[in-house]
Amino acid sequence: MSIYNGPMNKNAAKSHFSLLMSPLNLGYTVLKNRAIMGSMHTGLEESWNGYEKLAKFYQERAKGGVALIVTGGISPTFSGRLSLFSSQLSLFFQIAKHRKVVRAVHAYETKMCLQILHAGRYAYHPFAVAPSAIKSPISPFSPKALTGKQIKKLIKAYANTARLAKRAGYDGVEVMGSEGYLINEFICSNTNKRKDEWGGSFENRIRFSLEIIRAIRRVVGENFIIIYRLSMLDLHKEGSDWSEIVSHAKQVEKAGATLINTGIGWHEVRIPTIAAVVPEAAFTWVTKKLKQSIDIPLITSNRINSPELAESCLQNGDADLVSMARPFLADSQFVEKAKNNQSQLINKCIACNQGCLDRVFKQQRATCMVNPRAAYECEYPLTKAESSKTIIIVGLGVAGLSCAYYAAKRGHRVIAYDAANLGGQFNLAAEIPGKEIYRETVRYYDEQMSVLNVDVHRNRKVVFEDLRDSDADAIVFATGVSPRKPDIPGIDHSSVIDYETAIKNKSAIKDRVAIIGAGGIGFDVAEMLISDDEKNTREDKWYELWGVDKQYKNRGGLLNDKVNHEARRTVYLLQRKDEKPGKNLARTTGWIRRLTLRKAGVKMLSDLSYEKIDDFGLHIMHQGENETLDVDNIIVCAGQQSETALYNQLNDIGQPVFVIGGAKKAAELDAETAIREGMELAYRF
Ligand SMILES: Cc1cc2nc3c(=O)[nH]c(=O)nc-3n(C[C@H](O)[C@H](O)[C@H](O)COP(=O)(O)O)c2cc1C
Repeated sequence: MSIYNGPMNKNAAKSHFSLLMSPLNLGYTVLKNRAIMGSMHTGLEESWNGYEKLAKFYQERAKGGVALIVTGGISPTFSGRLSLFSSQLSLFFQIAKHRKVVRAVHAYETKMCLQILHAGRYAYHPFAVAPSAIKSPISPFSPKALTGKQIKKLIKAYANTARLAKRAGYDGVEVMGSEGYLINEFICSNTNKRKDEWGGSFENRIRFSLEIIRAIRRVVGENFIIIYRLSMLDLHKEGSDWSEIVSHAKQVEKAGATLINTGIGWHEVRIPTIAAVVPEAAFTWVTKKLKQSIDIPLITSNRINSPELAESCLQNGDADLVSMARPFLADSQFVEKAKNNQSQLINKCIACNQGCLDRVFKQQRATCMVNPRAAYECEYPLTKAESSKTIIIVGLGVAGLSCAYYAAKRGHRVIAYDAANLGGQFNLAAEIPGKEIYRETVRYYDEQMSVLNVDVHRNRKVVFEDLRDSDADAIVFATGVSPRKPDIPGIDHSSVIDYETAIKNKSAIKDRVAIIGAGGIGFDVAEMLISDDEKNTREDKWYELWGVDKQYKNRGGLLNDKVNHEARRTVYLLQRKDEKPGKNLARTTGWIRRLTLRKAGVKMLSDLSYEKIDDFGLHIMHQGENETLDVDNIIVCAGQQSETALYNQLNDIGQPVFVIGGAKKAAELDAETAIREGMELAYRF
């Protein structure tokens, strides 16, 4: 039975959604009909043959049982494109490629909506437009203020895109009204200084969103889904207040929307909303708060990453449907596995953003760190290899695990060894506050090794004699890295420890600490040192720390004051380079990490040299001055070195050896590359 085909007036919509409103005691069968794949722009939308690849990408998720898929944002006009070459749907000939995608999805019982997104002042090109000519802090381009005539034309353009979406076969559209894009810019007074009927009072500022919904409803008729993504929490001082949110939502419902989806925060706001440090399901409370006032079904979103969590949101009455975006990158079969009570086999989204958003920002195709096949389904089809080979894998960090997983999936016989247990550097990462979830990836691979009958040997150090006479078709070295020891006088002093030892023995670290090296691992260690809180305590404090008010007393849902973190230790984070510490951290999470350390009073120093280490502490030369940092411990995070001795020995005698991950390139340890290399190599066998 389809849940999305009914007429749209309020009573009819309610009875039409009777399945949604039924008692929530059906376990995962309920989730099956209530899981939405949230909008994600992948970059395929603009690439050569991209829609063929998108069709495969979405089809695999449709086959996996998701009820409704929302596409990534597509602009209704040229000015609304996210960047100069981003997607737009406004001409009839453009619907052909969309048809391919919709047909692929409709082959299963999945509905599909096109998201209409006008970037407003976030458009990364010189033709940006906005309600007022006010530049955003995250774009170098100043927008032009729209004239009244242009606004009316723009409303028609939204309706035109919806009409074309219907012609392409979509079941509906989602109107993107949140995250600080154009519609949101009309609604909030910081970006709307207009004096005409589109600005000034709140009623005037929401006119644009309501006119868009009405115009779309007029052209698409009654049975077409219109989702409105409403900014329920702007997270800035001139954001909407709660009474305005409720009033807007009521009017959105009246204007003809079928469903309301939850939008959280503006992109320019420095409060994390989707990163791993954000507690799971951190914002479902706001959807629940609105639910009392609205009759049409509400969708909740952000950081919901397991069937159990999604079910509990539904059981709690937080929302009628759950949107998950990145979890469907991580595992296309999420719903199917949930339905079959195989939650333990789900590859969980760890909210790292490394494969998805960080790549999109680098103009690369989005994928997923823990599932590098995501959006690469055409290049890496789920087919068996022509002949079954024997593959030996040495080292079961994530690179080795990924290689073992894909090789076994492709029908090869896989024998794998690790000198310790599974997971390698991921086990260290999981000790860092906010990264505990990395353990889930190791757990997932562990489950899959059993399912795929990989012959796993734990705590077994492989030596030359074991492999010298092996007749395996390939021997893969994924032996990882070990910490590098820099050449500093006194480096063997008892106060000095490497990062691996520090992470494994954090309770032994004293109160005053200097960290040598401000790369990713230096930041990880600093984050670990400033907080000894348990995960639950940290998550309780999270709202206060970032200034989010669950009572919603002020505009934007902000607390009056943000609090600073009470750091457990005095920490110096040091680097030789003369540049901002953490400059090369990932685009979407680096700012969070820098801000977290600053809030905790970590002293970050760059442009220095290490002179010596002795009983007085760490002696440095900082900007031409000698300084002694009186610290109890010095933790070395100065890079890694590869573990390749055995690989070289076997290579020399002509064994078929391959090397991946940190063992191949230790310089910039990068799990996303390591996991992808594991998959790519497995597809070569
Ligand atoms: C790669 C990527 C692209 C996204 N593109 C869009 C988009 O085009 N429109 C939109 O409304 N949200 C977009 N989002 C945000 C998601 O819809 C969602 O709100 C966010 O990822 C949080 O949900 P999650 O924790 O389930 O991933 C994108 C997210 C990612 C990771």
